[in-house]
Amino acid sequence: MTINEYNFAGKKAIVRVDFNVPLKEGVITDDTRIRGAVPTLKHILEGGGALIIMSHMGKPKGKVKPELSLGQIKDAVAKALGVPEVKFAPDCAKAADAAANLKMGEVLMLENLRYYPEEEGKPVGIEKEDPAYKAAKEDMKGRQKEFAKTLASYADCYVMDAFGTAHRKHASTAVIADYFDADNKMLGYLMEKEVQAVDNVLSNIKRPFVAIMGGSKVSSKIGIIENLLGKVDKLILCGGMTYTFAKAHGGEIGGSIVELDKLDVALNVEKMAKENGVELILGEDSVCCTDYDFSTFTVKPGAKTEVFKSTEIPAEFEGLDAGPISRAKFAAAIKGAKTILWNGPAGCFECDDFCAGSRAVGDAVAEATAEGAFSLIGGGDSVACCAKFGLTDKVSYISTGGGALLEAIEGKVLPGVAAIKG
Ligand code: 3PG
Repeated sequence: MTINEYNFAGKKAIVRVDFNVPLKEGVITDDTRIRGAVPTLKHILEGGGALIIMSHMGKPKGKVKPELSLGQIKDAVAKALGVPEVKFAPDCAKAADAAANLKMGEVLMLENLRYYPEEEGKPVGIEKEDPAYKAAKEDMKGRQKEFAKTLASYADCYVMDAFGTAHRKHASTAVIADYFDADNKMLGYLMEKEVQAVDNVLSNIKRPFVAIMGGSKVSSKIGIIENLLGKVDKLILCGGMTYTFAKAHGGEIGGSIVELDKLDVALNVEKMAKENGVELILGEDSVCCTDYDFSTFTVKPGAKTEVFKSTEIPAEFEGLDAGPISRAKFAAAIKGAKTILWNGPAGCFECDDFCAGSRAVGDAVAEATAEGAFSLIGGGDSVACCAKFGLTDKVSYISTGGGALLEAIEGKVLPGVAAIKG
């Protein structure tokens, strides 16, 4: 079933969204995920249905944590939907009456699903090494099914629109689908868009295809890098992982971030790039600093900032951004691309002294997009870069997924998609 084919008139739809939005003192600081789900939610209301919205927030690990209550965002959701009220069920597993009393056109939001350990389906308070773990896991599996069945009982149909959580096989993202027949479960518009965007960079590739992977660790990106090496024409590796590559070649990297146990992985990436005919572009030079405060994103008073080759960084310095030669190389590599994937910043973009690398990447991506490239941006930091540099409307697609996007690009089937599509 597709959301466009389904007749929502007179139907109650339970919709899994990812409203795991960042909050500061109870106020939403980035509502991208709420805006992302609005087309699906409005479509159901406009089609004559009633909405039961469910989500997690944070990681309460099966405990009630008021600071992670979805009640905090219900008015923002009402505003985004243009409805006078979003009703609230303070216990997601005891919302049968609230759901039964819901009238068409009305909206009910359930409290944080992860207040129940059954949502994630992991046994609580018992370590994997414990001999009783296996039995506890089995027991939890049964409880997870019951929990999913309860959620399913509230509605006539199920819509999965939580791309950010689609890589989790949880009660609300996957198991619940077993309690609806094929005619009454479907992906929402956000899921459809995200899956299409991933497909554009994995299957429907227009060449040249340039991927830019940044961030601090090779280890967290290795799966995606390996998968991309079989697909891209050029791969730019930037950000903190620059120094693991520099070290692997025996370079001096001062106090820069490095994964000493991943030097072989870095060398293997270079080997694989060669074998696949991929042009690998690494940051040759770096903007370095003697004393940077990562907690406040500021240069400490009296600290020195200088540019060095990434393999010749003096002991008292650490690399924090791509230098001018690297920036020019990155921009030149992106120019003329027809498919672009950008995940991870090129430096400590939060600080204006070290954002030039990420800005150079962002500007080049925007320029290539204006010339017809399809550009997909994912991961919180690259999305924040686009916002900081005013590029949000100048790229093709900004994903709401972090881990989910990475897993999709690694080529993994997301459980949230498999639950609907089989
Ligand atoms: C996210 O923020 O990436 C999603 O909401 C998934 O959250 P999780 O990593 O806690 O499952």
